[in-house]
Amino acid sequence: IARVETPQGSKNADGSPMLNRWSSILTKDHDFPGAQAMLYAAGVPDKRAMKNDPQVGIASVWWEGNPCNMHLHDLGKEVKKAVEKEAMIGWQFNTVGVSDAITMGNEGMRFSLQTRELIADSIESVTCAQHHDACIAIPGCDKNMPGCIMAFARHNRPSIMIYGGSIMPGHSTSLGKPINVTSCFESHGAYIYDTLSNPNNPDQTKDQILTEIEEHACPGPGACGGMFTANTMATAIEAMGLSLPGSSSTPATSPAKMRECARAAQAIKVCMAQAITPRRLLTRAAFENAMVMMMALGGSTNGVLHLLAMANTAELQPPLTLDDFQRVSNKIPFIADLAPSGRHLMADLHAVGGNPAVMKLLLAAGLLDGSILTVTGKSLADNLAAFPPLPPDQAIIRPLANPIKPSGHIEVLRGNIAPAGAVAKITGKEGMAFTGRALVFDKEAALDAALNAGAIPRGENIVIVVRYEGPKGGPGMPEQLKASAALMGAKLTNVALITDGRYSGASHGFIVGHVCPEAAVGGPIALVRDGDTITIDAAAHTLDAVNVSEEDMRARRKEWKAPRPVVTRGVLAKYARLVGDASTGALTDRFDF
Ligand code: FES
Repeated sequence: IARVETPQGSKNADGSPMLNRWSSILTKDHDFPGAQAMLYAAGVPDKRAMKNDPQVGIASVWWEGNPCNMHLHDLGKEVKKAVEKEAMIGWQFNTVGVSDAITMGNEGMRFSLQTRELIADSIESVTCAQHHDACIAIPGCDKNMPGCIMAFARHNRPSIMIYGGSIMPGHSTSLGKPINVTSCFESHGAYIYDTLSNPNNPDQTKDQILTEIEEHACPGPGACGGMFTANTMATAIEAMGLSLPGSSSTPATSPAKMRECARAAQAIKVCMAQAITPRRLLTRAAFENAMVMMMALGGSTNGVLHLLAMANTAELQPPLTLDDFQRVSNKIPFIADLAPSGRHLMADLHAVGGNPAVMKLLLAAGLLDGSILTVTGKSLADNLAAFPPLPPDQAIIRPLANPIKPSGHIEVLRGNIAPAGAVAKITGKEGMAFTGRALVFDKEAALDAALNAGAIPRGENIVIVVRYEGPKGGPGMPEQLKASAALMGAKLTNVALITDGRYSGASHGFIVGHVCPEAAVGGPIALVRDGDTITIDAAAHTLDAVNVSEEDMRARRKEWKAPRPVVTRGVLAKYARLVGDASTGALTDRFDF
């Protein structure tokens, strides 16, 4: 049902576009008097509105207790006001969500990725069940954005995404510099290895310093401010035309974010009148633009997983694959000095023109497709014409002719550990290849314990393998952020990390995730042993246990036993049963791969 575009024709009797094509199933006659009674009770003012006004769902991923999401209900109220001004009926509702920063480092992290599915399930359910004619979604934290777009692709009714915006930087007097949430993780590594100190105040204890950093890293509402997963996804989605121009780089607390809420009401009306449905926007060219922005700005590897999920939910043909990311990464220069690998935050980029200015640059160079349709009803190029270019004196985005790295940072690796692929984020700072001795941990908790005990050896190249952390094995493919940031903070520079789990956009260093097939289904990462020699070669796109022959692998496989599921009841047990491979996006509603 969700995919039927026009249940009763898209025109009114007078030939005008029928904007209430879905809600009119309930409201046009007296077939559903109980439904109309309920709608009057909920706020439909009169018979004229009941019969004529389109009904727009306003889905915020709001909850208290997380800066990324705490303000989204208020943004939703602005949207509702604007929707009503445009002679439409707005229905606010919420989905669940969790904070990627708050859930990490404990069992809670397993719940993070599966909330992407819950968000998609919630929005699809409410939109279809309540007969909404359109949907405006307001996400904040990492999984929110792909969850919303997957919902759009499922119900395929006119839709717009308003990104909640990113947070402003904090400031630490102890460190004497701007800080953000990543500073907490890195300082934690220094805290463990007793290297956290204040050069201007030797009497300040490491506990006092870490507390001061924790108190000031997140100064108000907004998602993590670097080019981490939330900003990566918001940026990609704006480049695909599913949010209004500027949405992805406008900070959460900017007055411009409120103005965007007002503009979204006019835009959704355009989408409804012109039948601009999500699947018309989720085209190959749009995904190409998303990947270009991701590479140019150094986006999170989670973007690979989420874009695959969005494309496969929209049943894109030909399907988006890991090889598409490698192809785009090979040709797009990495030009952004943005955290985590660089110095600046999204708020800084906004101050010099934001993502519209970056897109203008890429468009002028022929790297973006400006002809794609967007939610404004205009092309991407037409939208960008209204924005100024980057100023010549800015220092965040490098000229294309003088990039940080001539190609993108995403490397898709394959080899005897990852025959179905793995994803590395390599900026080149760390070199292009790393060989080391395998140190294997089943589950991140075991690595955490080793880190806390200071038990990772220094002085030799080590490849830490963290496994049974994939979509099924985790379950939930938890991010290994704490471990990877702690490695950085502890200055364990001769250590690489490979995992069948994820790692956050906040991670940096020589790290490979999304190893497929995952250990829990018998992927060869389950067969790696302590002492194997592992080579990660980004130039050759390989990930191999180089001293383990095919014969050795076969012998080890015979000894391997599938582990018992970690979770047997509740939402994670359902998730583990349904979820597919990371190389196709870890979806729970497609079983045909
Ligand atoms: Fe929400 Fe980082 S924890 S975006």
